[in-house]
Amino acid sequence: MKILVINGPNLNLLGLREKEIYGEDSYNDLIKMIQDYCEQEQIYVEFFQSNHEGAIVDEIQKAYGVFDGIVINPAAYTHTSIAILDALKAVKIPTVEVHISDVQNREEFRKTSYVSLVAVKTIAGEGFAGYQSAIRFLQENFQKNS
Ligand code: DQA
Repeated sequence: MKILVINGPNLNLLGLREKEIYGEDSYNDLIKMIQDYCEQEQIYVEFFQSNHEGAIVDEIQKAYGVFDGIVINPAAYTHTSIAILDALKAVKIPTVEVHISDVQNREEFRKTSYVSLVAVKTIAGEGFAGYQSAIRFLQENFQKNS
């Protein structure tokens, strides 16, 4: 199985930004955790992080026909980006939306998610472990037999 993990704006600053919300661990720690899990499960995984909406759209388009699943934390673009929603709709790759924090119990504006309209599942408030839950969900539901 081939999975693409996309992280949106400011997630490169994990470990530095709002530690009381996002924790002490860095973006590299997150990647390492996911890589270790995928190695153990024999899943091929690639990572992409960008602070730019269009770059994320480009990466989703490039994933067409290449990846079997996408795990995306669109960060602030969750709440604003119709372009990311449309790109995910276009490529039709099963996508799990992840948020490190419990977005439903924060500011009102974080309760709206465009990506939720296309995601097969949304995982929020599990910290970094949410990415692993997302990959497990894709494995259990979208693993191809061949
Ligand atoms: C986030 C939640 C978003 O509201 C926020 O803009 C982020 C991170 C999360 O992982 O909890 O940057 O997606």
